[in-house]
Amino acid sequence: MNEVILVIGASGQIGTELVVRLREMYGESNVIAADIIIPSYDVMEGGPFELLDILNKKQIHNVIEKHKVTQIYLLAALLSATAEHYPKAAWELNVTGLLNILSICEKHNIKKLFWPSSIAVFGPRTPKDNTPQVTIMDPNTVYGISKQAGERWCEYYHEHQGIDCRSIRYPGLIGYKATPGGGTTDYAVHIFHEALKKNSYDCFLAEDTTLPMMYMPDAIDATIKLMESDSTKISVRSSYNVSGVSFSPSDLAAEIAKHVQGFECTYTPDERQQLAKSWPRSIDDSVAREEWGWQPSFDLKHMTSDMLANLRY
Ligand code: NAD
Ligand code: SER
Repeated sequence: MNEVILVIGASGQIGTELVVRLREMYGESNVIAADIIIPSYDVMEGGPFELLDILNKKQIHNVIEKHKVTQIYLLAALLSATAEHYPKAAWELNVTGLLNILSICEKHNIKKLFWPSSIAVFGPRTPKDNTPQVTIMDPNTVYGISKQAGERWCEYYHEHQGIDCRSIRYPGLIGYKATPGGGTTDYAVHIFHEALKKNSYDCFLAEDTTLPMMYMPDAIDATIKLMESDSTKISVRSSYNVSGVSFSPSDLAAEIAKHVQGFECTYTPDERQQLAKSWPRSIDDSVAREEWGWQPSFDLKHMTSDMLANLRY
């Protein structure tokens, strides 16, 4: 069957890179980018784009009918820091938006859906090191609560409606092609830009805040690998733990300083520190490795040199 893929939230940090990769795989005209804002030049010029609000069911229906969509990647969400400021809007977009898409999948017989969760589904009582796939989940952030609800809804729709829902609990993502959209881990992108512009950076997290992180090429690989796997290999229908590399702001600053002479990082933790404090330090992703062969390629050293090489270019 000829797949037609709709990527909603295509103008964001992940969508900017994922759409380009999907178009290489499935053909430019078979990947429809959609968002409420205009995407990057590459996404806009590389294939079809639709202005689409996931809170408007009629619009979604029209786009699905127009393009005969067979798969959806739903990336639209409010991220952790922004969600804390706008709790109701975050619930509406992150949970009602997902429910809109799940019910539309059911109605239009769209069998395959990718929806990302986050390490924010874990909370203060979750084991912080090597956090298992199944463990205590007591998120105490607006974003984490919405992602945990989303995981349960995906599992429910898989069980009751047979929708092939697939999901990854992304760690904090780092890439050079797009700016991050209001998360707690955004510092790890800002620091590169400021290092090259000003030779200094004032970090909004404390220097020893170790978090699970991942370079964008690994995140895109994980997404594609999961979506391309035979469904018999997918036992987790809530969301898979995947791990890239864990580091703190001071680890990252020290690695950047090896390439940017005289770079200095200072630390002025703000309210985002509280969010980061509730999340794991490292993730056990053995289930994803065993079931669908997940393996990251980038460690801190290689990610840092690749980021700087691309930002300097
Ligand atoms: P982002 O904020 O960069 O992009 C989200 C996009 O959704 C934006 O382009 C925005 O315009 C769009 N959007 C907002 N409201 C919309 C609506 N009503 N209808 C259609 N589009 C709308 O986010 P991202 O970093 O690309 O994240 C994508 C997904 O991955 C989200 O679900 C996020 O929670 C998850 N995730 C991201 C990270 C990360 O570090 N980036 C980590 C864990 C999970
Ligand atoms: N990077 C994301 C955030 O900080 C984690 O889901 O919100």
